Amino acid sequence: MPVITNIEDLKRIYKRRVPQMFYDYCESGSWTEQTFRENSSDYDQIRLRQRVAVDMTGRSTKTQMIGHDVAMPVALAPVGLTGMQHADGEMKAARAAEKFGVPFTLSTMSINSIEDVAGFTDAPFWFQLYTMKDEDFVSRLIQRAKDANCSALVITLDLQILGQRHKDIKNGLSAPPKLTPKTLANLATKWGWGIEMLSAKRREFGNIVGHVKGVSDMSQLGAWTAEQFDPSLDWNKIAKLKEQWDGKVILKGILDAEDAKMALKVGADAIIVSNHGGRQLDGALSSIRMLPSILDAVGDQVEVHIDGGIRSGQDVLKAVAMGAKGTYIGRAFIYGLGAMGQQGVTETLNVIQKELDTTMALCGETSVEDLGRHNLLVPEDFEGRWRQ
Ligand code: GLV
Repeated sequence: MPVITNIEDLKRIYKRRVPQMFYDYCESGSWTEQTFRENSSDYDQIRLRQRVAVDMTGRSTKTQMIGHDVAMPVALAPVGLTGMQHADGEMKAARAAEKFGVPFTLSTMSINSIEDVAGFTDAPFWFQLYTMKDEDFVSRLIQRAKDANCSALVITLDLQILGQRHKDIKNGLSAPPKLTPKTLANLATKWGWGIEMLSAKRREFGNIVGHVKGVSDMSQLGAWTAEQFDPSLDWNKIAKLKEQWDGKVILKGILDAEDAKMALKVGADAIIVSNHGGRQLDGALSSIRMLPSILDAVGDQVEVHIDGGIRSGQDVLKAVAMGAKGTYIGRAFIYGLGAMGQQGVTETLNVIQKELDTTMALCGETSVEDLGRHNLLVPEDFEGRWRQ
């Protein structure tokens, strides 16, 4: 087994192993990809305060997210098509998260279904909901997540319509891949992926195929999903979904203090400061740059989480020290999963925890719960260069 010392190592193996169209799906932002890039590069703007001669024994990365104990303040983000990155990808990632002691979030657009993941793991996972025009389907999806004992509903608010990612269109992205000459030529070089995929439990959208009327094949399904995302989603509908769920609700895709206040009004248990990994509104500011204004607006009244651009334990530390109660990794765990399945997700989590622990120690802290702005050096104009 290759020696893995950082997330880039996993990304390199992932790129070799997984078909181009799924690598591109993961590694894209919308349009110019400015927001996608800045989600990561803005973390580099924040520096750390080194402190010395502090007793470093008995360190802990443990904390809580929405009242759940977590081994570190990191959850696996919902990622569509995860089961195309590796056979049974959602089941394996969920199991790795469970063993590590961090939350796993299953996407509506997953390959493995809610029931597949529930049958493969013991710990309750979180379910991410896309709201669709077909209200009956959405109600049944919510009921299925309840029946599977999911312990939080993560409602995505920033994808009423889909941001354009050029590569997905050019690649003709689909699950399973359509066997065009170009795809076949690429698949021929990905035999390890292909052999495992032959015995995968599923190769289609498991939460959808067989659960909506009149959709039995993939070509119909593609059209159905494109048409089905609900462009009329508003705060009233969100409040109704919350009522229907009757459990913990996390609202994902908040990037503005005004929206954070609305999330507070509907009674969210947590919000995720997010621009969908730079995959939706290209030109939006990075999540980490928007975090302080959102914390100022609602940070004392609701748990504020963040995703986008996190590729290391240092990034996690910066987000938490800035005031986030939890963080999410998407691409970072997909690299691990695509590189080496469940073991790769565990490697991702190990790398991030080790980096977080060492960074914390060198900043003079022994518990993630003690991290704060005092650990950071932030440029004076980090929050305020842009004006309305
Ligand atoms: C869906 O969530 C996507 O970003 O592709």
